[in-house]
Amino acid sequence: MRGLLNLATLFLASVPTVFGANSAGCGKAKTLTSKQYSMQVNGKNRNYFLNIPDNYNQNNPYRLIFTWHQLGGSAQKIVNGEDPNKGGVLPFYGLKAIANNSAIFVVPDGLNAGWGNQGGEDVTFFDQLVKTVEADLCINTDLRFSTGFSYGGAMSYALACARPEMIRAVAVISGAQLSGCSGGSKPVAYYGQHGTSDSVLNVSQGRQLRDKFVANNGCQKPASEPQPNGGNSVKTVYQGCKSEYPLTWVIHNGDHNPSQVNSGSSTPFAPGNSWEFFTQFK
Ligand SMILES: *[C@@H]1O[C@H](CO)[C@@H](O)[C@H](O)[C@H]1NC(C)=O
Ligand SMILES: *[C@@H]1O[C@H](CO)[C@@H](O)[C@H](O)[C@H]1NC(C)=O
Repeated sequence: MRGLLNLATLFLASVPTVFGANSAGCGKAKTLTSKQYSMQVNGKNRNYFLNIPDNYNQNNPYRLIFTWHQLGGSAQKIVNGEDPNKGGVLPFYGLKAIANNSAIFVVPDGLNAGWGNQGGEDVTFFDQLVKTVEADLCINTDLRFSTGFSYGGAMSYALACARPEMIRAVAVISGAQLSGCSGGSKPVAYYGQHGTSDSVLNVSQGRQLRDKFVANNGCQKPASEPQPNGGNSVKTVYQGCKSEYPLTWVIHNGDHNPSQVNSGSSTPFAPGNSWEFFTQFK
């Protein structure tokens, strides 16, 4: 009886889930671990960190989240996090702490500590990362996400433009068009956040990125441009977007800061907002 039950459990565990597309790594013993790796991309050495839940289950298709650093930052700084009270980001943009072991993180390192994406080389890096990770790990290929602050937001935007079929949603924190937009004609679920006092990449630049996907996603523009409510951010969920392609815009009155908080709060709002946006997709 016990043997039969175990057999049934084993069998059920190896049946692919009905929804979502599972990567080739599903059901296989993994060889990758949580550490730094490197690969060759167009003849250049590229570094990245992988972070896999300690209780990884090879039969569970995970979300795959790309977290791109800011100019002058590094993958190591995203993995470790930096003091949010001094303009730093929480580890993995604060998402790992919320994810409760439901996501695998890829943290790439930029050439010259940025995402110039010359000739599309950083998009090619992304392509190769997806291939490498998904050959070994169990990923729900309908649930790939990308986020980043500043240059990292620009890189997420570049992916939304160039790889709309591979990315389910992006969260662009204080971004601008710095990494190009090859393609850029298809819808992608889009979360954008920007400060009206941004002294590095002004808010018009953030709105410009947003408006590309307002148009691509078929959303209606609100009658007037959303404004912050004093020291509190204002979240606008755009109406009329094509189903599966929502768009959320968060405006605040702060500067170029990935860890902006609302008045009276000590918790940056980007992580919770981005996580909520990403996990509306199952
Ligand atoms: C985290 O995930 C585990 C396993 O799925 C679940 O039992 C637990 O309730 C979750 N915890 C939170 C805080 O969501
Ligand atoms: C915002 O920055 C861009 C790029 O530097 C610049 O072209 C534009 O004039 C600025 N807009 C405003 C309203 O300051």
